[in-house]
Amino acid sequence: MKQQIKKLERQARNLETTSQDRRSLFDQAQDYGENFLSSLPEQKAYVESQNKGKGVYELPFQDSPKKFEELLNVLQSEVDTPGLNPASGKHAGYIPGGGLYPSAIADYLAAVTNRYTGVFFSSPGAVRIENMCIRWMNNLVGYPDGATGNLTSGGSIANLIALVVARDDSGLEAKDFDHAVIYTTQQVHHCVIKAIKFAGLHEDTVRTIPMDDRFRMKTEALEDQIQSDKDQGLIPLTIFASAGTTDLGAVDPLDEIGDIANHHNLWFHVDAAYGGFFLLTGHGKKVMKGIQKSDSATIDPHKGLFLPYGSGALLVKDGQKLYDSQHMSANYLQDTYKATEEASPADLSPELSKHFRGLRMWLPLQLFGIKPFRAALDEKLMLTRYFHNEIQQIDGIEVGPKPELSIAFFRYVPESGDANEFNKKLVDAIHRDGRVFLSSTHLDGTIYLRLAVLHFRTHLDEIELILSVLREMINKLKIEASHT
Ligand SMILES: Cc1ncc(COP(=O)(O)O)c(C=O)c1O
Repeated sequence: MKQQIKKLERQARNLETTSQDRRSLFDQAQDYGENFLSSLPEQKAYVESQNKGKGVYELPFQDSPKKFEELLNVLQSEVDTPGLNPASGKHAGYIPGGGLYPSAIADYLAAVTNRYTGVFFSSPGAVRIENMCIRWMNNLVGYPDGATGNLTSGGSIANLIALVVARDDSGLEAKDFDHAVIYTTQQVHHCVIKAIKFAGLHEDTVRTIPMDDRFRMKTEALEDQIQSDKDQGLIPLTIFASAGTTDLGAVDPLDEIGDIANHHNLWFHVDAAYGGFFLLTGHGKKVMKGIQKSDSATIDPHKGLFLPYGSGALLVKDGQKLYDSQHMSANYLQDTYKATEEASPADLSPELSKHFRGLRMWLPLQLFGIKPFRAALDEKLMLTRYFHNEIQQIDGIEVGPKPELSIAFFRYVPESGDANEFNKKLVDAIHRDGRVFLSSTHLDGTIYLRLAVLHFRTHLDEIELILSVLREMINKLKIEASHT
């Protein structure tokens, strides 16, 4: 038996690397990263490709090892070329993510040391780092001591946990789910509708409250609807407001909604996944006035703090409520219960084992300081207003309202022909061209293009390029249309 074990050990030991192996892997990975970053200015923001990365299937998993070089070649041609390039400052579609380099280093360190950040007992220092990030964000939102939260993989999961906490805190029983009511607007992110399903609340009524001409929840309509629902014997459960809608960047009137929620004793959640970090700016503080009245908020560091994908956060004003909803004990965890100085992430979310997400936020905040983040966010707000002004100089362009945050929307209205068809062609032409990336949406059947400025690499040059590509594409399509 020992012989057999030793034989297996010899093979298993191949999983360990030597110092020389590590240096070689690291050097090659670093060269790859450097080549990628130094060629970024020339890279397209979007690459339409025929095979769409299918080449990855040419390297199936096998018993035998492969060379790192061969794998990096596949990464380069099949992964880091086709499709959207979210590392590019010329990406101004959807909600751009970031990709701060120190976060990559943090992920590397977190993976090498592999600290266990589910529970405080296992890695007290790492959990303190995570809780420090959460406290900093709670402070930003204006929550008092006693607030807590959880670093999630993104905004969708943060919103889901928030809804579950709201449900649990209300004491609602399953038999009453079909009597409960959730209030939001048509502009809420679709992950909230998914969350309602996952939280088992699909029988609830979802009221989409009418919006004003800037796509913000009408608070009078909200008040009337809650009262009318109460009169009918329904159970108002929660208000899901947005601080920066994905489509249009609208911020609901949080201050007034907070008062209504308080008056009717409803859980008030703010989805600030996109807009939240604008609280670092004077303008953002004004626009999101009243956010501190909420019971919980979602805020995504992989959006407004420019981190790489994989970082969202849920913040909860009354930390005990999050704990009561998410905590569960298990026999095999009994040793961990002796370390209670700090809250454990596993007690505040559905996750147990998890990535050490805090490090990728803590490191750039420490290395850079907060000042450049604030400047970058102020810059994004100004760039969006600049774009909104400049795009109106193109004849035939119709714009949406002045941007609340860093999203502007617009469309081209041709002198003749179908405007929707034209704008569909326009966005397709931009994607085919690929120098810049914008996305489109539709409002009551009307197609609009969107500019979302949130990448830390998006500066004035990139906005000028976007404007010039738009001018070029519109002219090209106009000429094509005149020939048909
Ligand atoms: C307002 C808002 N909420 C939630 C989400 C979902 O976040 P994630 O993609 O991180 O899950 C997004 C994503 O764009 C968003 O803009």
